Amino acid sequence: MKEILDRILPNYPPNKNDGLLPILQEIQKECGYLTDEILSEVGKYLNMPANKVYGVATFYDQFRFKPRGQFHIRLCKGTACYLHGSATYLNELEKQLRVKAGTTSRDGKFSLEVAHCLGACESAPVMRINDAWYPKVSPQELSRIIRSLKEKTV
Ligand code: FES
Repeated sequence: MKEILDRILPNYPPNKNDGLLPILQEIQKECGYLTDEILSEVGKYLNMPANKVYGVATFYDQFRFKPRGQFHIRLCKGTACYLHGSATYLNELEKQLRVKAGTTSRDGKFSLEVAHCLGACESAPVMRINDAWYPKVSPQELSRIIRSLKEKTV
């Protein structure tokens, strides 16, 4: 982690608050999530209190504070997907995979994220699992996906 910070931080002027968001975005891109230690180091670099860095990071739902699961599921609950039943899909995913939205399962296998629009409204309801797209997911397709996820290991 230190190497990543040593590489990223010098690209931004120290003591400048407007570098905070791009720094956090870049670090998350590399590390996958942000730790307390990372937030503290970024605060030191920008001469900003750690609680302020933490406050900014938690304000934006683009930032994660826990590692993703081996299977990162993004379910869209935007208007088009919601109207096609994605709310019931969320309940089903949470129940069947034993993972709450916004968290990672205890065994690290699944993480579940609710998206506000995945940009494919014409294919609602839509979900993504890692890099794969699942358009026009029917209830039967969802059951098949869940069964397949439970059986898979990476
Ligand atoms: S609302 Fe779901 S992809 Fe846009």
